[in-house]
Amino acid sequence: MNKIVKETVVVKIPASTANLGPGFDALGMALSLYAWLELSIAETTEVNLYGDGMEELPTDTRNLVYKVAQSVFQKAGMTEQPLKISMYSEVPLTRGLGSSASAIVGALVAANEMLGKAFSDQELFYMATELEGHPDNVGASLFGGIIVSSWDGESAPYVKITPPNALETCVIIPDFQLSTEKARHALPEQYSKSDVVFNIGKSSLLVAALASGQLQLIKQAMQDRIHQPYRAALIPGMSHILEQAVEQGALGAALSGAGPTLIAFIDSHSEHKEQLENFMVSTMKREGITAKTMWLSPDHFGTRVIFESKELIHELPFMELIKGDGY
Ligand code: HSE
Repeated sequence: MNKIVKETVVVKIPASTANLGPGFDALGMALSLYAWLELSIAETTEVNLYGDGMEELPTDTRNLVYKVAQSVFQKAGMTEQPLKISMYSEVPLTRGLGSSASAIVGALVAANEMLGKAFSDQELFYMATELEGHPDNVGASLFGGIIVSSWDGESAPYVKITPPNALETCVIIPDFQLSTEKARHALPEQYSKSDVVFNIGKSSLLVAALASGQLQLIKQAMQDRIHQPYRAALIPGMSHILEQAVEQGALGAALSGAGPTLIAFIDSHSEHKEQLENFMVSTMKREGITAKTMWLSPDHFGTRVIFESKELIHELPFMELIKGDGY
């Protein structure tokens, strides 16, 4: 019989970038940008959200974290539990950095931890993939590193690759939202044999290059004909950035997930970091798009429980509690 064994749990969840160019719905990498989530059993449900754009989200039982946590309790054979939810997120919403995946994964891990790990990590991954519809962002947020996975509607086997040490990324986040739904709608129903063959080759090469640390292969491998060409019309400046990023010092560049964020991979020792960042910013600016850049590293750990047990946590308000943890 499952029961609550921890009344309060705080987890830290990394953001993620999906696809990495050719690996549409199959590849994801966790990034050093985080959300923190506290889940506690309460008398009545209360949802407190902090961070840019978080005020757009529901703070009642329609909240995604609430719904996902309840689905875990239900799967464990339990009744609905009133919850106090506090969440702070650095991950910009609806920009292609896996904000919804981080909420889903955070809720799954925290609720499961409250149950004393009723479900395995693999089971949590299936649940997350089913909720999100594809494994790339949720896999990276859950496990950290680079996750290669294949979802066939029933199972999602995966392999975790440790990102090469020298890998760093510069993301440019345009100042507008683009829903995954809209960006998926832009894709055709069918593809030519030559485009499919092209992507199988590039995606396979990219996985092998990342697994073996051959960063110099990324520029040839990080190319795509399945989704980026169709989404480019939705993101001014995207084509130019993807075409020219290598000349400006990047190892390769891609649309981050469904966009509109673009991500450039670079060797952390490169002398061209400033040049690359300036190029990305000025390209967007020329298109009339305001955007901000961030330098992010791969996150190696995935979602971690950082605090647990009521006594320890409730002496501090949530935002104070997580302050010492990088926020
Ligand atoms: N693989 C997904 C896509 C990621 O590109 O649509 C975005 O959620």
